[in-house]
Amino acid sequence: MEPSRPRTMTAVTYDRYGPPEVLHPAELPVPEVAPGHVLLEVAAVAVSSAEAAMRAADPPVARLATGLRRPRVRVPGSELSGRVVEVAPDVTDLRVGDRVVTATGVRAGGYAEYVAVPAAATAPVPDGVDLVDAVAVVEGGLTALPFLRDHGAVGEGIRLLVIGAAGSVGSSAVQLGADLGAVVTGVCSTDHVDLARTLGAVEVVDRTLVALPEWPGPHDVVLDAVGAASFRRCRRLLAADGIYLTTVPDVDALVRTPLARRGHGKRAALAFTGLRRDEAKVADMRHLLQLAAEGRLRPVVDRRMPLREAAAAHRHVETRRKTGSLLLVP
Ligand SMILES: NC(=O)c1ccc[n+]([C@@H]2O[C@H](COP(=O)([O-])OP(=O)(O)OC[C@H]3O[C@@H](n4cnc5c(N)ncnc54)[C@H](OP(=O)(O)O)[C@@H]3O)[C@@H](O)[C@H]2O)c1
Repeated sequence: MEPSRPRTMTAVTYDRYGPPEVLHPAELPVPEVAPGHVLLEVAAVAVSSAEAAMRAADPPVARLATGLRRPRVRVPGSELSGRVVEVAPDVTDLRVGDRVVTATGVRAGGYAEYVAVPAAATAPVPDGVDLVDAVAVVEGGLTALPFLRDHGAVGEGIRLLVIGAAGSVGSSAVQLGADLGAVVTGVCSTDHVDLARTLGAVEVVDRTLVALPEWPGPHDVVLDAVGAASFRRCRRLLAADGIYLTTVPDVDALVRTPLARRGHGKRAALAFTGLRRDEAKVADMRHLLQLAAEGRLRPVVDRRMPLREAAAAHRHVETRRKTGSLLLVP
């Protein structure tokens, strides 16, 4: 018999755009489990810079996607881990007690004690990987991996420059790049130089001491993990057939993305993890967690904070100084 479920839970919600203080704890009903879904008791949920930007409606045009007058999604939180506590009758491959991660994308709802997610959007957390740390393994990795593997064709001997090497995407990219055999150069500020080196960068550029025009090159792949530069500014850093990849919309990269696959010469591309299918994300989460279980990908956790301190967590994310993932723990 499955344990009886509580009727209400603590969640963090907001009903208007604004500063971090619009986030507040509330008592909400525990979600119902629809067909194909499981209910998770949340172990940890990442606080991303995208969530902070959505909360602030920054840039304002983002409201077209998130709700014109008010946010449509009232409980943020997309990348999370937890234990299965309830399973819809038609779900056959998950059981109560299973440890899983999920990246629910726009469905969100993870800043809460419980969340209902599609069983098909979950990946099992292997033995030996901490359930809280598992979120940090997948948060940045889910973006870094397809950028490097699919768009950058990163492999043995590829010269890879990671701009923003200490952030959640960047710290994953440095590690995954090094694991794929690339020669990785990281760019970060003074406080994070040692971290970038420990993660596998053979050279680290302190961006507070060296300006972009002086950064070393050429590189086969430049991954601008924080959108700090642009194709134009990085052009000089690229090898003759090199590609500039960015996580942040840049008009030049947008226009060039369709040409990147076919073209030769210096190219640019942009991609969005949120647009990827669940099956592709689940396959990548399995892969990333396997790397973590083998000790080849280490979770980088800036800090763990109680769920109720979500507003303070957003304030910290907005400093743009975090390393790896910031995790809320209910
Ligand atoms: N396209 C997609 O699918 C996708 C997916 C995920 C995230 N994103 C976007 O990617 C960006 C990065 O996400 P994230 O989670 O990795 O961010 P993050 O963890 O918040 O990045 C924080 C890091 O950025 C570095 N940084 C800040 N300003 C910088 C600058 N001017 N130049 C170089 N580094 C700088 C800081 O390190 P230092 O001070 O040491 O440099 C800090 O450690 C966000 O804008 C996010 O919205 C896009």
